[in-house]
Amino acid sequence: MLLGVNIDHIAVLREARKINDPDPLDAVSLVNRAGGDQITIHLREDRRHIHDEDARRIIENSSLPVNMECSINADVIKIVTALHPHRITLVPEKREEVTTEGGLNVVHYFDAIQSIAQQLKKEQIELSLFIDPTTLMIQKAKELDVEWVELHTGLYANVYAMLYSNLARTHHSIKELECDRVSLHVKLKDALESLQESASEARKFGIRVAAGHGLNYHNVHNILTIKEIEELNIGQSIIAKSIFIGFENAVKEMIGLIK
Ligand code: PXP
Repeated sequence: MLLGVNIDHIAVLREARKINDPDPLDAVSLVNRAGGDQITIHLREDRRHIHDEDARRIIENSSLPVNMECSINADVIKIVTALHPHRITLVPEKREEVTTEGGLNVVHYFDAIQSIAQQLKKEQIELSLFIDPTTLMIQKAKELDVEWVELHTGLYANVYAMLYSNLARTHHSIKELECDRVSLHVKLKDALESLQESASEARKFGIRVAAGHGLNYHNVHNILTIKEIEELNIGQSIIAKSIFIGFENAVKEMIGLIK
């Protein structure tokens, strides 16, 4: 299982002060030293964290492959394609969201994605689609002949958090808690089954499978049981842990869990 470390949050911290520190580029060699396999960054339309110049410096200086997430917006695609990262992962983007919510609607945006896919094939840049784990999305990914899909693990992560960390705060009666726990266990099982089924379907079509969003040191173990998933992209939990134990140690600890 490969680990892509999403380093956007280093730029989030920098932007809190609008200065040049911390520099996300400094994370690249540390991910490499810790044994990580890939750098993942998201060039958002609103440039709220990673800027064009960050992306350029990271791609030029990284000895690890760089996976660039971006929306299907034509201006952003033009910039990102010119930077020539190893892989482009198309994600949905809404300006008001806190982070990427839900997968890309490949049915709705099929024609636009197809034209991007054709362009990236010419440029020899791998294309991945960040999608919800459904049969329909995998079918569309096959029709688009993409190299990768990244399965959205957000639903799994949310249910896991409700089961194992938040319920105690929101529920007063143990009876109610027990009742909710039963339905949450069913939801967790369903979420994992969707990920497993989608990963298997994708592999059958020869599509490589990554997964990410909301994964952390507590919940990642269930995802590791899905053998068709080759790569995880993890950001928030690694950066959060790095505040207390250092960035390189936080990456190493995650690698220890997934390998
Ligand atoms: N993969 C994709 C496509 C994402 O958009 C994000 C969030 O930026 C991640 C992975 C990482 O998610 P998290 O920060 O919750 O680990």
